[in-house]
Amino acid sequence: GSTDKGVYRHYMEKEIHEQPAVLERILNAYIDDAAIHFPDAPWLSTDPLPERIVMVACGTSYHAALTARYWLERYLKVSVEVDVASEYRYRNPVIGERTMLITLSQSGETADTLEAMRLFKSTTPNNRALSICNVASASLPRESDGLIELLAGPEIGVASTKAYLAQLSVLALVALHMARRAGAMPQAELEEHIANLWHTVDGLAEMLTRTAAVSSVVPLFARAHGALFLGRGPCYPLALEGALKLKEISYLHAEGYAAGEMKHGPIALIDSNLPVIVIAPQQYQLDKVLSNLREVQARGARVILLTDLPEQEWPEDVDRIMAVPEGDYFTTPLLVCVPLQLLAYEVALAKGTDVDQPRNLAKSVTVE
Ligand code: G6P
Repeated sequence: GSTDKGVYRHYMEKEIHEQPAVLERILNAYIDDAAIHFPDAPWLSTDPLPERIVMVACGTSYHAALTARYWLERYLKVSVEVDVASEYRYRNPVIGERTMLITLSQSGETADTLEAMRLFKSTTPNNRALSICNVASASLPRESDGLIELLAGPEIGVASTKAYLAQLSVLALVALHMARRAGAMPQAELEEHIANLWHTVDGLAEMLTRTAAVSSVVPLFARAHGALFLGRGPCYPLALEGALKLKEISYLHAEGYAAGEMKHGPIALIDSNLPVIVIAPQQYQLDKVLSNLREVQARGARVILLTDLPEQEWPEDVDRIMAVPEGDYFTTPLLVCVPLQLLAYEVALAKGTDVDQPRNLAKSVTVE
């Protein structure tokens, strides 16, 4: 059944492997030929476009929102604000008219996210609140004006994996849909991105077969006192998420940083026992990321490069390379999330931690 581990050692491993099917399910549900539609939030296709978008979430769901900000702002030219729910709800946020709220939550029961949504609705009842949630019957979707269901199936592992991939996938569709509606993306370009999303189903499956590259990275963590993840653009939040996954299940301290900000602090931590994972896809300022890579290398870091560059263009002297298939502006983060999850999983296995039930963590935080 869907809630049994089957051939997998942990729910987390099973859920990582379900991701190609999750993406396929999402594309089947929300794409009709060459158009995107959201049956439980039909107003997304008819309301005037908002002048501002606010996204509120916690944990991994917050990281998905951060990536979506790049997608939305680039095409829609509306300002997008992203905040963690526990901050948003207490900071007396300025909410204007024609502002749309998007809450993201796997469970739909996270107390802070729910309260942030209630605050938004009570302050500006005319604004729409959309919830993107994996549990259609949960409190958050019930109290929202519309729902986009994540369709990831039950997620049992405490550290979120397939729900995150589902959030990125749904948010990519929301951004594409709104960009098209805003007249900011020609139909042909929309169709190209949709085709790339379909190809990503295979890309994700392919990533799951590249286990040797992941295993080869694990020894670098044996004596590590921490790990640093670097990325830019839509993959900067992937660095945050890669670090969070590692922290959650391997108990190793890890930090995600905007690659360009690394000089302003974390570079002081670098030595040969601080593996640095550099996320360097061709889509987002590759040259700048590669120069950040050389800066950390020059300080003795062991570098793990995650890139979609063809092999003949791989930089020399990098300790390990994890290759990902080439993606577009929207699909690249989806492809990058898999090796980050596998890396955290393999390091945790090597450390012998309780992967599905990490200490001190709860699957859903329903009290403040
Ligand atoms: C907990 C879980 C995380 C999750 C976060 C937000 O901390 O351990 O995996 O990302 O809550 O949960 P939500 O259900 O709102 O996405």
